[in-house]
Amino acid sequence: SEHVSQRRLPSRHRFFADLSQCLFDFVIELLPTTEEMAVKENVRKLLERLIRTIEPESRLLSFGSTANGFSLRNSDMDLCCLIDSEERLSATDLVTMLGDLLERETKFHVKPLPHARIPIVKLSLDPSPGLPLGIACDIGFENRLALENTRLLMCYAMIDPTRVRTLVLFLKVWSKRRKINSPYKGTLSSYGYVLLVIYFLVHVKNPPILPNLQQMPPLRPISKEDTHLAGYNTWFFDDIELLRTRWHSDNNESVAELLIDFFRYFARDFSYNTGVASIRAGLLKKTAKGWQNDLSSSRYNDSRERNRLCIEDPFELDFNVGRCVTKDGIYTIRGEFMRASRILANRPERAVVALAELCA
Ligand code: CTP
Ligand code: MG
Repeated sequence: SEHVSQRRLPSRHRFFADLSQCLFDFVIELLPTTEEMAVKENVRKLLERLIRTIEPESRLLSFGSTANGFSLRNSDMDLCCLIDSEERLSATDLVTMLGDLLERETKFHVKPLPHARIPIVKLSLDPSPGLPLGIACDIGFENRLALENTRLLMCYAMIDPTRVRTLVLFLKVWSKRRKINSPYKGTLSSYGYVLLVIYFLVHVKNPPILPNLQQMPPLRPISKEDTHLAGYNTWFFDDIELLRTRWHSDNNESVAELLIDFFRYFARDFSYNTGVASIRAGLLKKTAKGWQNDLSSSRYNDSRERNRLCIEDPFELDFNVGRCVTKDGIYTIRGEFMRASRILANRPERAVVALAELCA
């Protein structure tokens, strides 16, 4: 019968529709609940009140996944303390004082790291009935570039929420389950994966799914002071309401097609040895940025280890977001892209099963 033949020979189209639906369903289950978001916001307010007893002019802002629209259930909270007064304590002193205060006044486990490259206070809360998985949170100081790059990612998420968020959230879960999301162990941060997705949607897909917000003409003239932060140009087109009416992608590919293509591109086509993925400028050359792996240099020179996978930060152009990725790390990550590509290329009859296998 027709039903049977359809099952035997699932059309390309039907497979993409099924897989897309499965991806939406899969991701929705993993979003934070409104309750979790409310608890986190209360924690932020409580911490802000406490910090103000040390620095009355301070504000505590969320960045990272809690603020950019790419949050999964139980993800960590990234908080940044901004101090508006002229005479402020050093980050090192603040971390020490805040650590002491939080230790005294709250139930958090507190770990101040005043001498880290970026001084932070690490906090965690044990699970409780209202918060079954506890909470983990890092507080840093004056990290204004991180607040801006969070806003940039949020704007990209808002332009095409369905496709962009589904892809990013799925890749975050997949990279965690496949254990390739640990910069401390030589693989890539979530931030790095998000940049790869945006790079792919802006520069690899043709027609593009997303515009390049950093290269769009501004609506009105802007001065250098307004756009630069710590010497870096942080301007981007951020009038999303306007963009929603003006930007229209001519690319109608489904989330499933985009995911399959993303895996294929990073398994096979991306030039890992010579290329730099830049969401600002597209595919760049390592040589042009001085990021080449000098394989003739001493094997103890870890500078070559730092540029295996090159992803340019959107604002800090001299910062390689993939610099933690080691030789083993890139081998593993690329192997995972190949594995994923292989699983999906067979167009398995049941999309649910394929997704489960992908994240197994
Ligand atoms: N960040 C950065 N430079 C990096 C890594 C991170 O500026 N090399 C900043 C970015 O603002 C990023 C935030 O730190 O949005 C959090 O990074 P990360 O934890 O990697 O991403 P999340 O989206 O918070 O992912 P997760 O849910 O896995 O914590
Ligand atoms: Mg985070």
